[in-house]
Amino acid sequence: MNKEIGIVGATGLVGSLLLDILVKRFIKSSTIHAFASDESAGTELVCRNKKFIVKKMTEDDLEKCHVLFFASSEAISKKWIPIMADRGVLCIDKSSAFRMDPRVSLVIPEIHFPNVNDLKDFPVISSPNCCTIPLALSLFPIHQKYGIKNIIVSTYQSVSGAGKSGIEALRSELLEIDSETPFPKKIAYNVFPFVSHFVEDGHTDEEFKIKEELKKILYTAVPEFQFSIDATSVRVPTFVGHGESVTLGLHKPAQKSDIVQCLSQYEGIQYEDFPMFSTPLECEGKDEVFVSRLRPAENFDSGYSYWLVCDNLRKGASLNAVQIFLKSIEVGFFSS
Ligand SMILES: NC(=O)c1ccc[n+]([C@@H]2O[C@H](COP(=O)([O-])OP(=O)(O)OC[C@H]3O[C@@H](n4cnc5c(N)ncnc54)[C@H](OP(=O)(O)O)[C@@H]3O)[C@@H](O)[C@H]2O)c1
Repeated sequence: MNKEIGIVGATGLVGSLLLDILVKRFIKSSTIHAFASDESAGTELVCRNKKFIVKKMTEDDLEKCHVLFFASSEAISKKWIPIMADRGVLCIDKSSAFRMDPRVSLVIPEIHFPNVNDLKDFPVISSPNCCTIPLALSLFPIHQKYGIKNIIVSTYQSVSGAGKSGIEALRSELLEIDSETPFPKKIAYNVFPFVSHFVEDGHTDEEFKIKEELKKILYTAVPEFQFSIDATSVRVPTFVGHGESVTLGLHKPAQKSDIVQCLSQYEGIQYEDFPMFSTPLECEGKDEVFVSRLRPAENFDSGYSYWLVCDNLRKGASLNAVQIFLKSIEVGFFSS
């Protein structure tokens, strides 16, 4: 399928991985355009022996694309997506700009995909937060069958979640070199319960996103069961891969073997039985969400706890966005 594909933020962590996945998959049939800030315009990116010159973002160049992946800031998405969507360009947004917009579907393709007709007026699809994606994917097969009643989740988020400046900050601190940092405290040899910024009630924006996005995704897919959720987001000094400790209670009773069956048969999940467990180092570069340490949890109705890890830049970001694009081709977005 011959397509003009644009990546906004192609020089960033998510954008460069998007480029890599798209080049591997589509280069023979499509043309890929790399966009970034004005400062990067004219620089050369090399990906799998192909060269790309980074372009300035102009209306003329953006609107030539059939699909635009937005992997830049929320402000850039808010500025450009309404303009491009109005011209019929499919916009797949990695930022949080439109995730809670009622016109926009928040999509993990293994769980749910909007009807093509629903994309006609405002062809925008948001990809969820990098902690929400693996959490929703691991909960969905359980929720579908037994109905989740309540969830407590704590995240262990790597510095790449804060973009290339997060990687640079940890690297510099480990080498004891002065540099700018996106973090409020030293991250090398440290952890802190603070990701993004504080919002109401003492929550952080990251915790708020996980809660609200999870409800939007799972209530759309399984409207009959409602749940409550509390989240604590923690930044840890790993480079790539987010971990999450999850405890849940169910509406309908289930044996541990039932939960194992849900998890081990679901697309995109790699279930690891006792005594195996994966870590951020082991999930880097892999597509799956790794779920392990499944065990009963006290004080919850039919309660279970588990551990998960996922490459936040891959399934947590770029891969999910590419899967959204593939699904939009499959459901006929470009042929209607
Ligand atoms: N990192 C993750 O784990 C993750 C996961 C899920 C979602 N996301 C979301 O994905 C997006 C990108 O994150 P990231 O981690 O890849 O960030 P990043 O490494 O900091 O990259 C940011 C990208 O945005 C570009 N950019 C900055 N200002 C721009 C402007 N004025 N016009 C056009 N492009 C501009 C940068 O270009 P220059 O190089 O020219 O500055 C760079 O390509 C964010 O919205 C983030 O919230 C990130």
